[in-house]
This record gives sequence, structure tokens and C-alpha cells, in this order.
Amino acid sequence: MKHFTKVSDISDIDALVKRARTFKGNPTAAEHMGQHKTLILVFFNPSLRTRLSTETAGTRLGMSVITMNANQGWKLEFEDQVIMNSDRAEHIREAAAVISQYGDVIGIRTFPTLTDRDKDYQDHILNSFIRYAQVPVISLESAIRHPLQSLTDVLTIEEFKKTKRPKVVLSWAPHPKALPQAVANSFVEWMRATDADLTVTHPEGYELAPEFIGDVPVEHDQQKALADADFVYVKNWSSYRDYGKVHTQDNSWMITPGKMDLTNQAFFMHCLPVRRNVVVADKVIDSPQSLVIHQANNRQWAAQAILEHLLNQ
Ligand code: CP
Repeated sequence: MKHFTKVSDISDIDALVKRARTFKGNPTAAEHMGQHKTLILVFFNPSLRTRLSTETAGTRLGMSVITMNANQGWKLEFEDQVIMNSDRAEHIREAAAVISQYGDVIGIRTFPTLTDRDKDYQDHILNSFIRYAQVPVISLESAIRHPLQSLTDVLTIEEFKKTKRPKVVLSWAPHPKALPQAVANSFVEWMRATDADLTVTHPEGYELAPEFIGDVPVEHDQQKALADADFVYVKNWSSYRDYGKVHTQDNSWMITPGKMDLTNQAFFMHCLPVRRNVVVADKVIDSPQSLVIHQANNRQWAAQAILEHLLNQ
């Protein structure tokens, strides 16, 4: 059974991006293909874009869409062979199987603990759903990846690039809270699978997990990294090595007009939500080079292409 949780679940990224662009030009191109099918979206954590864009995508394919906030109500038990005498009232074995009775595709959003690296990097909650669900599962952002966002980002770069192989810089930026590494991990994973010249820049101590960064060049001098960039993708993440910790909030890493001047008139990208004047200066996010609303728009077409892909099996 097909699931969508990572780039390697997709054999032909170009075809998927092309299909997303078809939906962008003609949102009702497959308006009946999901008829009499139900999409169930389960959110353990908050969302604006993922929730609304995926609901919209399912509806445009003719699906019935049910969204459930799983952080309300009782807690699920994910461990095997436990005596269930805590506050966890239902086991994932039953919960995933039961949701599968009502839904034809299940979407799951779950953030990491940022305290237990081993469990987070096993993607314990998402993989438990995959193990016990009886229908395709789509990741709406898991502990370590955000594939719907990354497919959207590939689509957006494809639309705006001026050269076949653009220079793309992923830059860490400061943030007051400890955030997951999921968006950065996934962005790197998808850029490595497409035709892009990727450089990552971050302060010492913010190295991404080896299985994600691979042989991608890392430059600790942000200004040097930004030179001649065509796209500047900005995101905060907490430390992988000193797991979940915030080592610095150094605002000299914020993206400013002066930094964008170092680039090849680069486009600015961020998955949102973003902290203005912490991560990026107003003048950059409000400039014509900012693609953040294009990215948010593209979330729906990427989701529509993926849902169609999962229904076509
Ligand atoms: N970019 C993104 O996933 O936004 P939400 O957290 O609002 O879904």
C-alpha cells in the first residue's frame, strides 16, 4: 500500500510537480475521482496551512473530509505490551484500525517531543499509524519530516527559477522557542532529489542529522553562503546534537535587506508561520521577492496531487 511520508515514497517527482501545476491551472481537473471516498485528517498539533489546504484539496477531488483534533479528548497509548492503567485510554492498534473503517486516506500531524531523540527520529507516532492503519497514510508533518511542505517548495522553485539548476540556500534564523528540525530535514531531502545547487548555513551546534544533510555543503558564515543565491529559504530549528535545545537567539542571523543584497536578486521563502523582525525583516517579507504567499497557495495543489496519487492505487 502506498503512503506519503518522505521523498522516497515518490518515484517521479517531476510528474507529481507537473500534476500539481495542472491542478493549479484547473482546480477541478479530477473533481470526481475522490467521490464516495473519505479523507480523515488527525491533528495532534496545531495547523493553519496544512489543515486548510489539505481539506481544500480533498474537497476539490470530490472527497468527504473529516478533521479531528486529537489533542482534545483522551490520550492514545503507542507502546506495546503495556498495562494500560495510566491516563492513556485507547491503544493505537485499535484507534488506527477504527479510523480505517471510516476513512479511505488518513492524514496525521504530529510534532516531536524534542526531548527523546531516538523516539522522534524513529517517527514513532506516524509509523505506528502506518503499522496499524488499513488504508494509505499521508504525513501532515511528522516528528522529523514535512513532505507536503517540501513538495510545495519544489513546485514553487520550479515556477520561479530562472536557471535549470538554481543556487538554493537554506539558512537557519533565530527564534525564541525550540522548534522541530522537520521542515529543514525535509527541505534538504527534497532538494537533494531535485536539480538544485543547495548550501545550508547555520551557527555551530545546529548541524542537521547526518542522514538528512548527507554531503550537502554547510557554510557557517551566513553572508558567504548567501552570495549569488537564487532562492533563500529561511527556517529556525533547534539543535539535533544537543537535542531540542536553543543555543542562541543571535539576531545577526535574521534575514535583512542588506543580506538579500548579497544574493542574485534571490527570492525569499519561508513555510510560515514566521516571526517578523526575528526571523526576517518586514522589508524582506513584504518585498516583491518574497514568495511566502505563493508557497501557501501552492500547498493546496501539492496536496491535491498527492491525494490523487494515493487514491490511484
Ligand atoms: N507550513 C505549515 O505547515 O503551516 P501550518 O503549521 O499552519 O500547517
